[in-house]
Amino acid sequence: MTNSSMIPVTLIPGDGIGPEIVNAVTEILDVIKAPFRWDKQIAGMAGVDAVNDPLPAQTIESIHKTGLVLKGPLTTPVGKGYRSINVTLRREFGLFANVRPTKTLIPGRYDNIDIVLVRENLEGFYAAMEHHIPVDNDPRGIATCAGYTSRKECNRIVKYAFDYALHHNRKKVTLVHKANILKELCGLFLEEGRKVAKNYEGKIAVEERIVDACAMELVLKPENYDVIVTTNLFGDILSDLTSGLIGGLGMPPGANIGEKAAMFEAVHGSAPDIAGKNCANPLAVLQASIMMLDHVNRSDLADRVRKAIHKVVIENKVRTRDLGGNATTTDITAALKQAVQ
Ligand code: NAI
Repeated sequence: MTNSSMIPVTLIPGDGIGPEIVNAVTEILDVIKAPFRWDKQIAGMAGVDAVNDPLPAQTIESIHKTGLVLKGPLTTPVGKGYRSINVTLRREFGLFANVRPTKTLIPGRYDNIDIVLVRENLEGFYAAMEHHIPVDNDPRGIATCAGYTSRKECNRIVKYAFDYALHHNRKKVTLVHKANILKELCGLFLEEGRKVAKNYEGKIAVEERIVDACAMELVLKPENYDVIVTTNLFGDILSDLTSGLIGGLGMPPGANIGEKAAMFEAVHGSAPDIAGKNCANPLAVLQASIMMLDHVNRSDLADRVRKAIHKVVIENKVRTRDLGGNATTTDITAALKQAVQ
């Protein structure tokens, strides 16, 4: 393949376990000669450490040029410090849909989980319009947060979920909301959702669930779910729940899709508790790279990686600690590099 036919991709190794697992994935992609030309950039704590900026201008510029990102997890300080760079990137590049598929690989507590969660990625409480109101002598006596939803984004995200269902031979979309309490914020989502669903009548079934009931039902009867579409915060929480159904955060990938750019990453975070210990599971980022291969119409290569994962994890039982095994990151990467040939 000539250098000019390669697809430029911004590669952000990320923080914590990010560099270990992203490196593992690029090594595997090299073996199958994936058509990507990496432009390596920094963000998050790596940006702060190197240039005192969690989102350097050079990183933004690179994404504007490539429109395609493979990203390791980025650390966000809790309760203080800079705002989430993940959220900032999603907003900067209009990545309105967060698609998180969870499919059983290793049967465990559940055997046949196959749920795709589509999360609105730009609005809701993630707009983070937060303020304090002083009470007596306490300047932070009350904390407020104003979330919002727009008709345009509600419509766009539900339409995305139904189109996704149609193109991936799915049967049903469940609209998940809390419109019984948040009558305006979630009411608008439900109103637009019902409107959009009408256009798919006879093709894709629609159901509605209140988020708390959905959380319980996902544990008791996950087979009732096919594609879920929901607002930002609920999507964040429920996608960790669905990750739990397939054995934890080491597996599920996520795609952040916009009209001009797409960013692929793991659902999990930077796992500081295991960083540098050579025990992180690279499969979530690897599955994110499979989604990226599908996105650039190289499903032939995506299938090769899928088959290699099956061979290594199911047939040969090479598994990292989070999957009940004792393979190191290096072990599973070497096994995948061999299996993908
Ligand atoms: P986390 O997802 O990093 O870790 C939760 C648990 O799962 C930990 O016990 C960790 O060891 C384990 N785990 C996660 N990924 C794993 C992997 N690949 N292999 C084996 N075990 C794995 O969540 P946590 O601790 O709440 O967040 C840590 C940092 O990550 C925070 O700063 C958070 O803001 C950030 N974060 C970043 C995300 C992103 O960049 N998209 C998403 C979620 C969190």
